[in-house]
Amino acid sequence: MDYSVINKRAAGAAAVDYIVSGMTVGLGSGSTVDYMLDKLAEKVKEGLKVQGVPTSKKTEKLAKHLGIPIVDFATITKVDLAIDGADEVDPSFHLIKGGGGSLVREKIVDANAQQLIIIIDETKKVPQLGTYPLPIEIVPFGWQKTAEAIAAFGVEPKLRKLSEQDVFVSDNGNYILDCPFKLIEDPHSLHQQLKQLVGVIETGLFTSMADIVIAGEEGKVEK
Ligand code: 5RP
Repeated sequence: MDYSVINKRAAGAAAVDYIVSGMTVGLGSGSTVDYMLDKLAEKVKEGLKVQGVPTSKKTEKLAKHLGIPIVDFATITKVDLAIDGADEVDPSFHLIKGGGGSLVREKIVDANAQQLIIIIDETKKVPQLGTYPLPIEIVPFGWQKTAEAIAAFGVEPKLRKLSEQDVFVSDNGNYILDCPFKLIEDPHSLHQQLKQLVGVIETGLFTSMADIVIAGEEGKVEK
């Protein structure tokens, strides 16, 4: 089996150990989270009582299929813990997220959680963010103008597409620009500046949000 799969599965399983009965748990998105859901479903079958807050339609569908109880985010007062994946993690636990296109709902749920655990395979650890193109969710109307404004930061934004003809549309009905900054010196400041642009909904920079990072490495986990 592919080592990244083994490592993602190991990280996902290790995160489930932080869940105790009675918790409301934010369920992130992506393949590493999918492995976490497999493990969580096993625990639910064994009697663990949890309710999940999904961060994407895909995660919601999988969680329901696996028998994990789901709750409407609008009806709850707190999220005890969120478990999510990432595309890059720097030594200060700043993140790039949004590779799967779920960054807005992920950020809303993750920001409202009392604790955020990030699960990754070791390849996601970087000394500095920016090699992975930064996903930025934008309003479809006038997207070209928003892309131009982002290009003024010295980057060439690329509209995410499913095929030559089909534009990727997020769960919120928006577009995503993938922005290869190469090296992001100050993630917090870049996020603040991008957020001020008209048309930008959210960036995939998650700064000072992660409390714990669990990285699968050679089939084991490092916390
Ligand atoms: C989706 C995300 C994912 O968490 C991120 O892309 C990591 O995915 P994977 O676990 O499949 O590598 O941010 O918007």
